[in-house]
Amino acid sequence: MLTTIIYRSRLCNSVAFKEIESMVAIANKNNELKNVTGILLFNGIHFFQLLEGPEKVVKEIYSTICEDERHYNVVELLCDYAPARHFGKAGMELFDLREYSKEKVLQAVLNQGTTRYQLAYNDRALQFFRSFVMGNYNANYFEIPPAESWLFVKDESSVSLSQPHGECTFAFQPIIDPLAGEIIAYEALVRTLSGRSPEEFFSAFEGDCVYKADLESKRTAFEMARMLPLKNKLLSINLMPMTLVKMPGAVDILLKDLAANQIVPEQVIVEFTENAVISNFDEFSAAVKALKYAGINVAIDHFGAGGGGLLLLSRFQPDRIKINRDLIENIHKSGPQQSILLSIIQCCRLLEIQISVVGVEKIEEWMWLESAGIEYFQGNLFAPASLNGLPAIAWPEKKTPF
Ligand SMILES: Cc1cc2nc3c(=O)[nH]c(=O)nc-3n(C[C@H](O)[C@H](O)[C@H](O)COP(=O)(O)O)c2cc1C
Repeated sequence: MLTTIIYRSRLCNSVAFKEIESMVAIANKNNELKNVTGILLFNGIHFFQLLEGPEKVVKEIYSTICEDERHYNVVELLCDYAPARHFGKAGMELFDLREYSKEKVLQAVLNQGTTRYQLAYNDRALQFFRSFVMGNYNANYFEIPPAESWLFVKDESSVSLSQPHGECTFAFQPIIDPLAGEIIAYEALVRTLSGRSPEEFFSAFEGDCVYKADLESKRTAFEMARMLPLKNKLLSINLMPMTLVKMPGAVDILLKDLAANQIVPEQVIVEFTENAVISNFDEFSAAVKALKYAGINVAIDHFGAGGGGLLLLSRFQPDRIKINRDLIENIHKSGPQQSILLSIIQCCRLLEIQISVVGVEKIEEWMWLESAGIEYFQGNLFAPASLNGLPAIAWPEKKTPF
């Protein structure tokens, strides 16, 4: 079985093009030996390469290429499988787009196609070539500076509370706008008294008692929030949609608990996970009405993780969505993830839905997402959730110059 990988990348400013030409001569021999085709396009700044051959060697060569310091911002655009080669000749060929017209380069690439398996006009690999040569979508290939351009400096915002009385406690994690240096909200995450996960906390309850525990735990969250210096920040809490259905007067209870802790409903975001919403959509719709009538904001958490995705947005538009880590992990390297994120961003922009991203761990992930227009971030890169308190926040500062 043949594997095709297509990526694009950027030449390092410090590397002379002559170096690339001599690299190609070596790569040509290496590829030929391993029965791999490498077609490399260069437009003066960016590379675009197709690698094709047996899966194991193609993946090995690609991972060596990813580590090559002569280029950076390597983004995989396509990884596909086929019964036969698109391109007949193993080796490596370089096409310098500055030397030939677009049409000539495309024709030359087509000429490389195997005669038996003529490249179809709508073949994805060929369409990627076409887009690169024509300069389509350049605006979506973000120039991400190296991670070393940033310094993360911790502030002194950490606060500790004594553990509350009752059945549970909370860890608080900030949602921030890193470049504006602003804290937007704190999410209160339920924990067992020994600091264990929400799953462990809820596993102690059976049947509808889970919903009672869900609702009652919020009183503890609000009491803790009152003791923390949240000021005018938003407070995000998680709720199961069925809690609002199964617990009579649930919204009134929430409002009473909020008032008792001097928190106004407009300051609160209730997060529902996408999965829970999808499986109980009718109940969820009724519950959400009651929250919105009370002035409480609604967010969909783990957006993109539950299979609801854009279909869910067609049926219900929350104030905010929180994008799950699954969709943004190593996003700086993945063309498919980038395309999905860009379409979610575009869709939310048109619907005026605010987006935040959860689970950001790498500088490059954050930088790609910032370049794509995301402003609000939550994740260990900035601050982990802090049990019984607020964590210190590590704010990014640009090292100068870079
Ligand atoms: C844009 C670009 C494309 C490359 N393409 C190939 C290729 O198709 N085949 C290859 O063997 N090396 C290619 N290389 C070079 C590899 O990164 C690496 O230097 C080479 O495989 C030698 O690796 P080694 O020193 O670990 O043996 C490319 C490098 C760059 C910057």
